[in-house]
Amino acid sequence: HVFLSGLAILPVLLKTLFDPYFVQDCSYMLNALKHGIRLAKYKKKKPFYSILDCFLDAVKKQPNKTFLHFEGTSHSYVEVDKQSNKVARALQTRANLKQGDTVALFLGNDPCYVWIWMGLAKLGCAAALLNFNIRSKSLLHCFSCCGAKVIIAAAGKDGLREAVEEVLPTLKQQGISVYLLSEECSVDGIHTLSEHIYQASDEPLSADLRASITFKSPALYIYTSGTTGLPKAALVTHERVWAASFIQAVSGVRSDDVLYINLPLYHSAGFLVGLTGAIERGLTVVLKRKFSASQFWEDCRKHNVTVMQYIGETMRYLCNTPKKDNERDHKVRIAIGNGVRSDIWTEFLNRFGDIAIRELYAATEGNIGFINYTSKIGVVGRVNFLHRRMFPYTLIKFDIEKEEPVRNSNGLCIKAAKGETGLLVGKITKYSPFVGYAGNNQQTEKKRLRDVLQKGDLYFNTGDLLRIDEQNFVQFQDRVGDTFRWKGENVATTEVADILTMVDCIEEANVYGVKVEGHEGRIGMAAVKLKEGKEFEGANTFSQVTNYLPTYARPRFIRIQSSFEMTGTFKMKKVSLVEDGFNPAAVHDPLYFLDPAMKTYVPLTEEIYTSINNREIKL
Ligand SMILES: *[C@@H]1O[C@H](CO)[C@@H](O)[C@H](O)[C@H]1NC(C)=O
Ligand SMILES: *[C@@H]1O[C@H](CO)[C@@H](O)[C@H](O)[C@H]1NC(C)=O
Ligand SMILES: *[C@@H]1O[C@H](CO)[C@@H](O)[C@H](O)[C@H]1NC(C)=O
Repeated sequence: HVFLSGLAILPVLLKTLFDPYFVQDCSYMLNALKHGIRLAKYKKKKPFYSILDCFLDAVKKQPNKTFLHFEGTSHSYVEVDKQSNKVARALQTRANLKQGDTVALFLGNDPCYVWIWMGLAKLGCAAALLNFNIRSKSLLHCFSCCGAKVIIAAAGKDGLREAVEEVLPTLKQQGISVYLLSEECSVDGIHTLSEHIYQASDEPLSADLRASITFKSPALYIYTSGTTGLPKAALVTHERVWAASFIQAVSGVRSDDVLYINLPLYHSAGFLVGLTGAIERGLTVVLKRKFSASQFWEDCRKHNVTVMQYIGETMRYLCNTPKKDNERDHKVRIAIGNGVRSDIWTEFLNRFGDIAIRELYAATEGNIGFINYTSKIGVVGRVNFLHRRMFPYTLIKFDIEKEEPVRNSNGLCIKAAKGETGLLVGKITKYSPFVGYAGNNQQTEKKRLRDVLQKGDLYFNTGDLLRIDEQNFVQFQDRVGDTFRWKGENVATTEVADILTMVDCIEEANVYGVKVEGHEGRIGMAAVKLKEGKEFEGANTFSQVTNYLPTYARPRFIRIQSSFEMTGTFKMKKVSLVEDGFNPAAVHDPLYFLDPAMKTYVPLTEEIYTSINNREIKL
């Protein structure tokens, strides 16, 4: 009998063994399992073992190893530890912080980002990582939704101090303490911090200060663009910090690697996958203020960088640099990131050599992620038995026109077939929780999807359209309606629409993203309806969008319409607008183009259109 049943499973066995991805699947599963077990162990430890404890262990083990390289300076593990002790002590006395408090950070990429966050962690405080591109209304909103009572801002040349001064009256009114990383400031209501940090003792702080922090406590708030306009603060618990910090380990990064972080630290890619992932590995980080394609390989050579992070645009900018003889002369062996298109992926490998690209799919607040662990180009991952068992997810049929899932006569969603594009939803369970957004129940509820495969079940709606092919590879397709991505940033269409409708002449605005040949993502475009009897005011609209929106969110094209097409559920239709694009030969409504040099919106001529397509005009 044993023999017979053995024979019966033989075909299955042979099939799996000859599946070229079988070994990769297994090694990935084992690796993932190993880290799952580690996390379970940390969670059981009393007190909870956080990423900060992991850093402190690294300080004991390798005090003199360089932790951060930055613009010609370097800081060892022990130096960063001491510096963060000083920060913690200064904040403890100056701002009277205690565990459970939240502090907003309004800083650019700089080593002090690291020790200020770490100082806060030592006091048991959560950090809200503000995007340094935001201003005025958005800034106030982001600040207030995380419930912070303190904001720390950089004083450098990047205008953050001015941005804070602009909203200071409101902050004062709300009793918020504002600290500037500077030795002096004469503005009433802004406190300085640098001198206090400098003078504070660097002695370690007692772990009792953070004794009540558990894996469920908030560690960070990271902002994601939302559907109702203003950004949302995704609550990142200590458990999630750990989960994201394992991505490097799962991607094969070792403790002797050198990681290059050139993405902003206010995003989860830079902060969690990059920085805390580096702490988990105990490696050396080369931190960059801002990505620079021309300095990229020079930096890598200078510091012996072996692991890089990217977004789709990074790869493209690198591929667009002039060819050099020494461009394969570097030690980079792994690239971790997301959003690279297959043509660029191939070109990148051809030019810069054999680099393992770990393309991943994940959302800061989402409860499901993928990582490519095979050698297949252009995919974000692979359907994997264990992964699916641990984090049940499914793709469901989606109606792009109505922007909602298709439901059958019983009111349940319908699974997308193999090869068919569908909306990715992840089942909300104890192991794949969705904690939601701070101070925004309505938005949290909007991301929950009920009655998906069974009555009463509950899923997280990623808002992303993916496809699973016959060979079980997962491909990212697109984002659903309300947000689009440009230059690696999510743009919330309703936030942009809110800003546009504040312009005098504009009655209504319908914002969307359009594809431009040779660019990742979509660039902003708005269809607007003018108020009765008004003309379009290019210069006013220009100053409105430049005052209130970061560069990547500004609509580059405007289309004037006399009326909007609505869907059956009274939403503005976007699909046909997106398809129409911005070609003046094809669109008969008046079109305008944001011209930064002229400081206004100018009529979009054939000539401008051609120059954009020839890349003579940079977007
Ligand atoms: C680190 O450097 C300090 C000062 O140079 C030295 O006293 C110490 O022994 C070093 N520690 C280790 C573990 O190498
Ligand atoms: C980079 O590696 C080379 C060769 O292994 C070594 O000689 C050099 O000192 C290293 N540079 C740095 C900055 O570590
Ligand atoms: C991901 O895809 C790239 C594509 O070439 C490959 O080099 C790499 O090995 C893949 N897998 C992993 C785990 O990175």
